[in-house]
Amino acid sequence: MLSDDEDIPVVDRASLGRVIAVANGKGGVGKTTLAANVAGLAAADGARVLAVDLNGQGNLGLDLGIRGGQADDDGRALAEAIADGRPLAPVRSVRPELDMCVGGTSVGHLPALLSNRYQFQAERQALMLAVSLQQVAGDYDLVVIDSPPENPPLQQLALAAARWLVVPVRSDRASIHDGLGGIARQFALVRKKVNPGLELLGVALFASGSSSRAIRREVRHDVEEVLGAGAPMFEAVVRHSEAVARQSRSRGLLVHELEQAAAANPAFWKLRTGEASRDQVVTATSASVAEDMAALTREMFGRMAELEGDGQ
Ligand SMILES: Nc1ncnc2c1ncn2[C@@H]1O[C@H](COP(=O)(O)OP(=O)(O)O)[C@@H](O)[C@H]1O
Ligand SMILES: [Mg+2]
Repeated sequence: MLSDDEDIPVVDRASLGRVIAVANGKGGVGKTTLAANVAGLAAADGARVLAVDLNGQGNLGLDLGIRGGQADDDGRALAEAIADGRPLAPVRSVRPELDMCVGGTSVGHLPALLSNRYQFQAERQALMLAVSLQQVAGDYDLVVIDSPPENPPLQQLALAAARWLVVPVRSDRASIHDGLGGIARQFALVRKKVNPGLELLGVALFASGSSSRAIRREVRHDVEEVLGAGAPMFEAVVRHSEAVARQSRSRGLLVHELEQAAAANPAFWKLRTGEASRDQVVTATSASVAEDMAALTREMFGRMAELEGDGQ
């Protein structure tokens, strides 16, 4: 699968038209949470979805509830497939319609492995996930890649395999400037070198204490300072909730699943009599956050469809 220039693999971009990379130069901005929930919601809606955890920490597996279980190989299968240019071999059905490539320590070692194996072939190194992904992408309606902060080689792998970039941000100025600056550089580099069709689908405001117009205006201003005027921002804002964050991650449930679990909360009198404990109670805020996630997911799909239409 090599072009005339022996170093650069041929990538069939048409097969990667529905691949979203979720990225930001900073950690703790909601990349993993968004990747898990968007993938899970699309799958719950009947789309065939693949979630790829390109992360040395493997947190996507935590959010999807498979961390430490039988399917968790700490990223070995994913890293080996990418290093060898073989098809990805996802764990099947972590949810109905949702497959997953598990991340972890081996993925953290992947950049060193690639640069050893493909010395002085920077483009080839960046394209190895695209090569592995395109061999299975036909099985899916949507692929969502979660990527790590502060790791240009892994970010480049994600961006070089994607058609769309989604960037979650927190509302504080410092995080916007640090996080967006980093990913904007990788975005420009990858577009120039290996993936000119990569587009910024949008910037999403994550875990905000407020969705007020004033906050959104400020965030937009800060985002435009880094990405330029007219940078696309999603209308939907994921609201802040410590309780939802803690409960979903500790239970390995997506936010809409947490909302469903809330329906089975113990009756208040069982709590009073001690027949049930407070730990079993799922926060009612899960319904609002689930609504935010659904709105954001709908908006992403709407915008993809719109931009795809433009290109025809
Ligand atoms: N709606 C929310 N409100 C507040 N915190 C949240 C929310 N959803 C998730 N979190 C928490 O925010 C932190 C960062 O999220 P994460 O998705 O891991 O970010 P990243 O992948 O960018 O490092 C995590 O501790 C997560 O549990
Ligand atoms: Mg993460």
